[in-house]
Amino acid sequence: PPQSKIVIGRKRSSCLAVKSGMGTEVSPISEDRMLVMVPPHPLIKHWISVLRNEQTPCAIFKNALAELGRLLIYEASRDWLPIINGEIQTPMGVATVEFIDPREPVSIVPILRAGLALAEQAPSVLPATKTYHLGMRRDETTLLPSVYLNNLPDKFPAGSRVLIVDPMLATGGTMVAAIDLVKEHGVDNKQIKVISAVAAPPALQKLGTKFPGLQVYAGMIDPVVNEKGFIVPGLGDAGDRSFGT
Ligand code: PRP
Ligand code: MG
Repeated sequence: PPQSKIVIGRKRSSCLAVKSGMGTEVSPISEDRMLVMVPPHPLIKHWISVLRNEQTPCAIFKNALAELGRLLIYEASRDWLPIINGEIQTPMGVATVEFIDPREPVSIVPILRAGLALAEQAPSVLPATKTYHLGMRRDETTLLPSVYLNNLPDKFPAGSRVLIVDPMLATGGTMVAAIDLVKEHGVDNKQIKVISAVAAPPALQKLGTKFPGLQVYAGMIDPVVNEKGFIVPGLGDAGDRSFGT
């Protein structure tokens, strides 16, 4: 099936150009564009449907986010991990093998609270990870984000790959602030991928304009953010629904 790809750039004419490619091939990233990937896997569609259903109980909702995160992180890691070659002895002979380099762990940055659930399976998918928590809350009236926990390292090691994980990209204020923070700690746009369940156009426009070279992996793109900052039809408040509060 075709892979949905949306390229968002600084030039007005290039905003929201939709591209189709075959399978899971990823084109080289253009310097001045952001790439939005919506992998066409039926399991991704399934878990999005479970999340959308207002009848889904809290524990199932949280589990569905974790499963969706596992699949999106798998897709995002496809062309991205450092490989080392070696030889190992099998019971029958010597095989030439490839490993993920354990000396270069992927940095996972879950944005609390809802990002915790979406990032839960990251250490199962990726052989080497480090998790740095970022607590951010969006004011219900102004919709502006504030940081209440910053566990980022003083400086990420040179060349670090960073996955920033948050289920909802609505106005985009939270993710823009999170990426700004990660960049302040020494990471380039092109080394960052965003993992999200549902993304909306205002957030994608903002991210594409501000962070050329960024890649966003989303389960779904929804059309509307309402006056209260909720994505419509969306899935409600992912943090509240994950933790029952
Ligand atoms: C939600 C969501 C994002 C943010 C998206 O978090 O998980 O972090 O809002 O909105 P934006 O794109 O308009 O900034 P919330 O503040 O509800 O925190 P929570 O995860 O603790 O529920
Ligand atoms: Mg919330």
